[in-house]
Amino acid sequence: MANDTKIDTVRLGADGPQVGVQGLGCMGMSWAYGPTEDAGEARATLERALELGVTLYDTADVYGDGDNEEFIAPFLRAHRDEVVLATKFALANDPQDPTRRTIRNDRPYVRQAIEGSLRRLGVEQIDLYYMHRRDVRVPLEETVGAMAELVAEGKVKHLGLSEVTAAELRAAHAVHPIAAVQSEWSLFSRDIEAGVVPAAAELGVALVPYSPLGRGFLTGSFVHADQELTADDFRRQQPRFTGDNAAANVALLEPVRTVAAAHGATLGQIALAWVQQQSATRGLTVVPIPGTRKRSRVEENTGATRIELTAEQLALLEPIAGKVAGDRYADMRFTSAGRE
Ligand SMILES: NC(=O)c1ccc[n+]([C@@H]2O[C@H](COP(=O)([O-])OP(=O)(O)OC[C@H]3O[C@@H](n4cnc5c(N)ncnc54)[C@H](OP(=O)(O)O)[C@@H]3O)[C@@H](O)[C@H]2O)c1
Repeated sequence: MANDTKIDTVRLGADGPQVGVQGLGCMGMSWAYGPTEDAGEARATLERALELGVTLYDTADVYGDGDNEEFIAPFLRAHRDEVVLATKFALANDPQDPTRRTIRNDRPYVRQAIEGSLRRLGVEQIDLYYMHRRDVRVPLEETVGAMAELVAEGKVKHLGLSEVTAAELRAAHAVHPIAAVQSEWSLFSRDIEAGVVPAAAELGVALVPYSPLGRGFLTGSFVHADQELTADDFRRQQPRFTGDNAAANVALLEPVRTVAAAHGATLGQIALAWVQQQSATRGLTVVPIPGTRKRSRVEENTGATRIELTAEQLALLEPIAGKVAGDRYADMRFTSAGRE
């Protein structure tokens, strides 16, 4: 039986929007994680999340070359004033090779990208516009300057950055206030804690952890991506989910299982509670955006906001990330870790 209590709200950044303390990642609804067998259920999930107090909805122009933005557009039209809409620019799929992506941060591209997103989403303004990846050939001041122009023109309300270093965050924030940084953060992926997290805490920038469920691995729903997931599933390209790495990594879920049993919770709920609790531990706003296309899972995931882990339980979970075998991506050059 689902608990219909709405989740708490927090402010994203010093002057940012008020949002539910957990958001919804929309990427997998139409891209990256195999075919969506039931688009109706995915649409119902968008609605159910809102009923539960989830208001930050996350997409990007690269997700299915705009398909994902178009997928959520009807929902947005129905609920424009209730939803805080986040999308991203900078990444594009290479039409010659689906495993490759290009990155563009130059001013003309920023101006072109926003028009495409506004059109596909069917809105006049995006609440939170992220630079998805950093192209080091373009001065950050040019990119953030172009994003600031969009704010001045009313096309965008707040700015965000994804997969940036602490130095890049500071430089960008000096050009225009940054409301949020979106980076991978979970029991399996903790590299941002050394630089980005303290910088965000100091600057009053919120952290929006993506893949907080380790792309589903932390829920125990799959082990060997290459054997269990469909041919087009992005996780088959991620070193930590295949071969010996996957076999070693699944053993790391044992302490998560122990903590879950103590709370009568699922593994995924403990993974989400852990990342949420980093807010208190590290003194910054944290709004994870787990992705799901199923109503029952959004109910389960929002339920995690009511779980409080004890110091002993946090200590039990602490060593996990240090033991994970395999990188987050096959090509780490596109991550902030490649530039730290
Ligand atoms: N900025 C970036 O570079 C970047 C990169 C990746 C993702 N993102 C954003 O972050 C969002 C979330 O990340 P993510 O989707 O990669 O990973 P995630 O949230 O860690 O995991 C999503 C996966 O877990 C499954 N799942 C969700 N809840 C579950 C539950 N309670 N029990 C069992 N399985 C569950 C989902 O399957 P079902 O859908 O079938 O439930 C999906 O396969 C994305 O949607 C996207 O908006 C951003």
